[in-house]
Amino acid sequence: MDKLVLYRPQLEELNFRRALLADPDTMAYNHAYGGTVAFPRERWGDWYARWLEDETGGRFYRYLRLEGTGEPVGEAAYHYDGGFGGYVCDVLVSARHRGRGFGRQGLELLCAAARENGVTRLVDNIAIDNPSVELFRKCGFRERLRTEEYILMEKDL
Ligand SMILES: CC(C)(COP(=O)(O)OP(=O)(O)OC[C@H]1O[C@@H](n2cnc3c(N)ncnc32)[C@H](O)[C@@H]1OP(=O)(O)O)[C@@H](O)C(=O)NCCC(=O)NCCS
Repeated sequence: MDKLVLYRPQLEELNFRRALLADPDTMAYNHAYGGTVAFPRERWGDWYARWLEDETGGRFYRYLRLEGTGEPVGEAAYHYDGGFGGYVCDVLVSARHRGRGFGRQGLELLCAAARENGVTRLVDNIAIDNPSVELFRKCGFRERLRTEEYILMEKDL
C-alpha cells in the first residue's frame, strides 16, 4: 500500500487545497453546509497565519502526501473548540483517491502527531448520515453522544 506522510504546505502550495474544496464529489459529505467551499487566493494569507503559524498549539494542519511521489491526496487537521471542550479533528481525502486506505492512514498519522504535540484527546462531530463513523471506530474512537444532526466520536490519545 502507498505510504502517506504529513506535510506542512507552503503558502504557494495552497492551490491543492483550493481545488480539493472546490470538487463536488470530494465535498459531497458537506451537503448540509452547502457542499463545495470557495478558497480564493486572497484568503490564503489570513488562513495560513491562523492554521500554520499558530503559536498557541490550538491549531494543526497538514497535507496528506504520498511519500514516494510527493503528490497530495488530502488533508488532516485539528483545532481546539471551546464548545466541545476539546480538540476537533478533520480528515479529508480527495474523492478520486478514496478506498485505498488513505483515510485510515491519515487519521492514524493525525492521532500520532496530536499525541506528540501534547494533545490528550481528539473528538469529531460527524454528520449523522456520514458513513465515515466506521473509519473512526476502526481507529479507536468511540461514540460519546448523538444528536439528530451528528455523532460525537472521541479518542483518548
Ligand atoms: C472519510 C474518508 C477520509 C475516508 O477516506 P478513504 O481513503 O476512502 O478511507 P480508507 O480507504 O482508509 O477506509 C478506511 C476504512 O473505513 C471504511 N470506510 C471508509 N469510507 C467509507 C464509506 N464511505 N463507507 C463505509 N465505510 C467506509 C473502509 O471500509 C475502511 O475499512 P478497512 O480499513 O477495514 O477496509 C473520505 O471518505 C473522505 O474524505 N470523506 C469526506 C470527509 C469526511 O467525512 N471526513 C470525516 C469526518 S471529518
